[in-house]
Amino acid sequence: MDRRLRREVLRKATYGIYVVTARLGEQWSASTVTWLSQCSLEPPLLMMAIQKKGGLRALIKKNPAAIVHILGAGQKSIASDFLKATRHKDGRLNGHPYALVRDLPLLTEIPWYCVVEARDWIERGDHSVLVAEIVDVGKNVDADLPLVMWDTGWTYGG
Ligand SMILES: Cc1cc2nc3c(=O)[nH]c(=O)nc-3n(C[C@H](O)[C@H](O)[C@H](O)COP(=O)(O)O)c2cc1C
Repeated sequence: MDRRLRREVLRKATYGIYVVTARLGEQWSASTVTWLSQCSLEPPLLMMAIQKKGGLRALIKKNPAAIVHILGAGQKSIASDFLKATRHKDGRLNGHPYALVRDLPLLTEIPWYCVVEARDWIERGDHSVLVAEIVDVGKNVDADLPLVMWDTGWTYGG
Protein backbone atom coordinates (compact mmCIF):
# COMPACT_ATOMS: atom_id res chain seq x y z
CA MET A 1 0.00 0.00 0.00
CA ASP A 2 1.19 3.50 -0.87
CA ARG A 3 1.75 5.27 2.49
CA ARG A 4 1.12 8.78 1.17
CA LEU A 5 -2.06 7.77 -0.63
CA ARG A 6 -3.22 5.94 2.49
CA ARG A 7 -2.85 9.16 4.48
CA GLU A 8 -4.57 11.24 1.79
CA VAL A 9 -7.54 8.84 1.59
CA LEU A 10 -7.99 8.27 5.32
CA ARG A 11 -7.79 11.98 6.08
CA LYS A 12 -10.92 12.50 3.98
CA ALA A 13 -13.00 10.56 6.55
CA THR A 14 -15.17 12.95 8.57
CA TYR A 15 -14.92 13.27 12.36
CA GLY A 16 -16.26 15.36 15.20
CA ILE A 17 -14.16 16.74 18.04
CA TYR A 18 -14.85 15.67 21.62
CA VAL A 19 -13.28 16.01 25.05
CA VAL A 20 -13.41 12.85 27.17
CA THR A 21 -12.90 13.15 30.93
CA ALA A 22 -12.32 10.52 33.61
CA ARG A 23 -11.38 10.49 37.26
CA LEU A 24 -10.47 8.26 40.16
CA GLY A 25 -10.00 10.14 43.42
CA GLU A 26 -7.20 12.63 42.85
CA GLN A 27 -6.30 11.19 39.44
CA TRP A 28 -7.81 13.24 36.62
CA SER A 29 -7.74 12.83 32.86
CA ALA A 30 -9.18 14.96 30.06
CA SER A 31 -8.27 14.46 26.40
CA THR A 32 -9.40 15.65 23.01
CA VAL A 33 -10.61 12.67 21.00
CA THR A 34 -11.84 12.43 17.44
CA TRP A 35 -12.22 8.71 16.70
CA LEU A 36 -15.66 8.39 18.28
CA SER A 37 -19.10 7.28 17.07
CA GLN A 38 -22.45 5.98 18.29
CA CYS A 39 -22.55 2.23 17.60
CA SER A 40 -25.90 0.98 18.98
CA LEU A 41 -29.36 2.51 19.42
CA GLU A 42 -30.64 0.05 22.03
CA PRO A 43 -28.87 -0.04 24.34
CA PRO A 44 -27.33 3.32 23.44
CA LEU A 45 -23.62 2.66 22.91
CA LEU A 46 -20.64 4.74 21.87
CA MET A 47 -17.31 3.50 20.62
CA MET A 48 -14.11 5.47 20.81
CA ALA A 49 -10.47 4.73 20.09
CA ILE A 50 -8.10 5.69 22.92
CA GLN A 51 -4.35 5.59 22.50
CA LYS A 52 -2.68 2.84 24.48
CA LYS A 53 0.20 4.97 25.75
CA GLY A 54 -2.01 7.73 27.16
CA GLY A 55 -3.33 8.45 30.63
CA LEU A 56 -7.03 8.44 29.65
CA ARG A 57 -7.12 4.73 28.82
CA ALA A 58 -5.25 3.80 32.01
CA LEU A 59 -7.70 5.78 34.14
CA ILE A 60 -10.88 4.40 32.51
CA LYS A 61 -9.44 0.91 33.00
CA LYS A 62 -9.25 1.68 36.75
CA ASN A 63 -12.65 3.42 37.04
CA PRO A 64 -14.83 2.31 34.09
CA ALA A 65 -16.76 5.54 33.49
CA ALA A 66 -16.26 8.77 31.56
CA ILE A 67 -17.98 11.89 30.27
CA VAL A 68 -17.93 12.54 26.50
CA HIS A 69 -18.30 16.26 25.76
CA ILE A 70 -19.42 17.43 22.31
CA LEU A 71 -17.76 20.76 21.58
CA GLY A 72 -19.56 23.68 19.95
CA ALA A 73 -18.43 25.07 16.59
CA GLY A 74 -16.52 27.98 18.15
CA GLN A 75 -14.63 25.94 20.72
CA LYS A 76 -11.43 24.96 18.92
CA SER A 77 -9.34 26.66 21.63
CA ILE A 78 -10.92 24.46 24.31
CA ALA A 79 -10.15 21.37 22.21
CA SER A 80 -6.59 22.64 21.88
CA ASP A 81 -6.16 22.90 25.67
CA PHE A 82 -7.02 19.20 26.04
CA LEU A 83 -4.40 18.04 23.56
CA LYS A 84 -1.90 18.63 26.35
CA ALA A 85 -1.21 16.57 29.48
CA THR A 86 -3.99 16.89 32.07
CA ARG A 87 -3.35 19.45 34.81
CA HIS A 88 -5.72 19.79 37.77
CA LYS A 89 -5.05 23.10 39.47
CA ASP A 90 -7.11 25.63 41.45
CA GLY A 91 -10.30 23.62 40.91
CA ARG A 92 -9.90 23.65 37.12
CA LEU A 93 -8.86 21.12 34.48
CA ASN A 94 -6.29 22.56 32.06
CA GLY A 95 -7.64 25.98 33.05
CA HIS A 96 -11.31 25.11 32.46
CA PRO A 97 -14.11 24.97 35.04
CA TYR A 98 -15.86 21.73 35.86
CA ALA A 99 -18.62 20.37 38.09
CA LEU A 100 -18.73 16.84 39.44
CA VAL A 101 -21.39 14.53 37.99
CA ARG A 102 -21.31 10.97 39.34
CA ASP A 103 -17.85 11.90 40.68
CA LEU A 104 -16.66 12.62 37.11
CA PRO A 105 -15.53 16.03 35.84
CA LEU A 106 -18.17 17.72 33.68
CA LEU A 107 -16.67 20.61 31.70
CA THR A 108 -19.38 23.22 32.07
CA GLU A 109 -18.40 25.43 29.10
CA ILE A 110 -19.04 22.65 26.57
CA PRO A 111 -22.63 22.49 25.23
CA TRP A 112 -23.47 18.79 25.09
CA TYR A 113 -22.38 15.72 27.04
CA CYS A 114 -22.97 11.99 27.54
CA VAL A 115 -22.10 10.13 30.73
CA VAL A 116 -20.87 6.65 29.80
CA GLU A 117 -19.91 3.42 31.50
CA ALA A 118 -17.19 1.29 29.93
CA ARG A 119 -18.43 -2.10 28.75
CA ASP A 120 -15.90 -3.72 26.38
CA TRP A 121 -12.37 -3.10 25.18
CA ILE A 122 -10.95 -4.26 21.86
CA GLU A 123 -7.17 -4.41 21.99
CA ARG A 124 -5.90 -4.48 18.43
CA GLY A 125 -3.69 -1.65 17.16
CA ASP A 126 -1.97 1.29 18.88
CA HIS A 127 -5.37 2.52 20.13
CA SER A 128 -7.86 0.48 22.18
CA VAL A 129 -11.48 0.59 21.08
CA LEU A 130 -13.77 1.18 24.03
CA VAL A 131 -17.46 0.32 23.73
CA ALA A 132 -19.32 2.30 26.38
CA GLU A 133 -22.98 2.54 27.35
CA ILE A 134 -24.59 5.99 27.54
CA VAL A 135 -26.25 6.19 30.96
CA ASP A 136 -27.11 9.91 30.94
CA VAL A 137 -26.99 12.94 28.65
CA GLY A 138 -27.25 16.68 29.23
CA LYS A 139 -26.80 20.23 27.96
CA ASN A 140 -24.73 22.94 29.64
CA VAL A 141 -25.05 25.96 27.38
CA ASP A 142 -26.95 26.83 24.21
CA ALA A 143 -25.22 26.16 20.90
CA ASP A 144 -26.34 25.22 17.39
CA LEU A 145 -23.52 23.45 15.62
CA PRO A 146 -20.81 21.05 16.81
CA LEU A 147 -17.10 21.45 16.14
CA VAL A 148 -15.93 19.17 13.34
CA MET A 149 -12.39 18.15 12.45
CA TRP A 150 -12.57 19.67 8.97
CA ASP A 151 -13.14 23.17 10.38
CA THR A 152 -10.13 23.00 12.73
CA GLY A 153 -7.54 22.42 10.01
CA TRP A 154 -6.16 19.58 12.17
CA THR A 155 -5.70 15.98 11.13
CA TYR A 156 -5.37 12.80 13.17
CA GLY A 157 -4.29 9.47 11.77
CA GLY A 158 -4.13 8.27 8.21
C1 LIG B 1 -6.87 16.37 16.15
C2 LIG B 1 -6.53 15.37 17.20
C3 LIG B 1 -7.38 14.31 17.44
C4 LIG B 1 -7.07 13.34 18.41
N1 LIG B 1 -7.88 12.26 18.58
C5 LIG B 1 -7.54 11.32 19.46
C6 LIG B 1 -8.33 10.13 19.59
O1 LIG B 1 -9.33 9.93 18.91
N2 LIG B 1 -7.96 9.23 20.53
C7 LIG B 1 -6.85 9.42 21.32
O2 LIG B 1 -6.55 8.56 22.16
N3 LIG B 1 -6.07 10.50 21.21
C8 LIG B 1 -6.41 11.45 20.30
N4 LIG B 1 -5.61 12.56 20.16
C9 LIG B 1 -4.43 12.70 21.03
C10 LIG B 1 -4.82 13.22 22.42
O3 LIG B 1 -5.66 14.36 22.36
C11 LIG B 1 -3.61 13.57 23.29
O4 LIG B 1 -2.56 12.71 23.04
C12 LIG B 1 -4.06 13.45 24.71
O5 LIG B 1 -4.62 14.67 25.14
C13 LIG B 1 -2.99 12.97 25.65
O6 LIG B 1 -3.59 12.82 26.91
P1 LIG B 1 -3.46 11.48 27.77
O7 LIG B 1 -2.04 11.01 27.67
O8 LIG B 1 -3.82 11.93 29.15
O9 LIG B 1 -4.43 10.46 27.26
C14 LIG B 1 -5.89 13.49 19.19
C15 LIG B 1 -5.03 14.57 18.94
C16 LIG B 1 -5.34 15.47 17.94
C17 LIG B 1 -4.37 16.60 17.66
